[in-house]
Amino acid sequence: MTSVTMSPDIHAAITAVGHYLPETRLTNQDLMKLVDTTDEWIKSRTGIEERRILTGEKKGVSYMAAHAAQEILDKRGIQADEIDVIIVATVTADMSFPATACLVQAEIGATNAWGFDLSAACTGFLFALNTGAGIIESGRASKVLVIGSDKMSSITDYTDRKTCVLFGDAAAGVLLEPDANNNGIIDSELRMDGHGWEALCMLGGGSLHPATHDTVDQKMHYIQQDGQTVFKVAVKGMADVAVEIMERNHLTSDDIRFLVPHQANQRIIDAVARRMKLDPDRIMLNISRYGNTTAATIPLCLHDWELDLNEGDNLVLAAFGGGFTWGATYLRWAYDSVEAKHSDPSLIDAQQVL
Ligand code: UT7
Repeated sequence: MTSVTMSPDIHAAITAVGHYLPETRLTNQDLMKLVDTTDEWIKSRTGIEERRILTGEKKGVSYMAAHAAQEILDKRGIQADEIDVIIVATVTADMSFPATACLVQAEIGATNAWGFDLSAACTGFLFALNTGAGIIESGRASKVLVIGSDKMSSITDYTDRKTCVLFGDAAAGVLLEPDANNNGIIDSELRMDGHGWEALCMLGGGSLHPATHDTVDQKMHYIQQDGQTVFKVAVKGMADVAVEIMERNHLTSDDIRFLVPHQANQRIIDAVARRMKLDPDRIMLNISRYGNTTAATIPLCLHDWELDLNEGDNLVLAAFGGGFTWGATYLRWAYDSVEAKHSDPSLIDAQQVL
């Protein structure tokens, strides 16, 4: 059963967005000093110009996730003890256990929350968003924090030009709350196919290959990717579910305010948008500035475009990632951007930047 049609009465709506971006920038020019690559190759093949890297000791994924969570609380004007559930989507948790969600809970002081981490690579945020929505719709919680946070630099081999140009570090997330005004998450199509696991994985450090000198020597603690294989299945997978969501909900391209795609490769995003018959001005695209931040890309887009969103706007979120995992979610935005602007003067107007 892959289709998730939500209850028509109470939907889970996004009511605030927050983010954290490390200050350190790693540009294509910087990478040209590390590996045999060019700015032209990286830009034309991926669309990426620079990424952010989290530096400094004792700063893992929870550090970024907690900052994003705090921004969400501040923008919504609520206290941490009002949060019921914290879900952190990540493949680069601070530690194997405890869950990053526990560390975020302690850092922000969410004394009444329970929570957990969710591992679905680049589809992590989408799966976490739908999990959080299910908890809201069940009536078991009224405030769920869903954060995507990944410190990809911690598992990137900066001597491997095939992967090191792709990834960056960031966190971003949303608050989910019940909505009775027909806004929020309406429908989703979520999938996985474990047969594809070897095309995108990190082999070392788990129970199959616990860390040893040998696993380190063999570079098993870094991302491995068969880029071309992933590229082909990603284009088809993301486009198929996005179009399916549109057809099932009788949406034409004119009805969609924005496609919010996972930012792995601009060529993948363009191909998906073409299948959806969407013009470029309906695509949230910030890969040039941040690269692929895995679970953070989709909420980071929502953050960057928040000022352009108004209540009732139809968004289609779509992602593809390791596993394989993929999916699309149709949601109606639940608040006017002008309110967010007043509460967060630091918000960037994405249209002005682009
Ligand atoms: O987010 C999770 C899902 N991940 C994705 O969706 C990623 C999907 N895959 C991709 O985005 C693309 O496959 C990549 C960006 C990873 C690679 O682009 P590509 O067009 O598929 O390139 P390729 O792997 O076919 O490599 C083409 C050539 C090769 O050289 P030869 O064998 O033709 O001589 C590579 O060795 O480009 C070479 N190459 C590079 N050259 C300069 C690979 N990486 C680089 C590089 N700089 N950084």
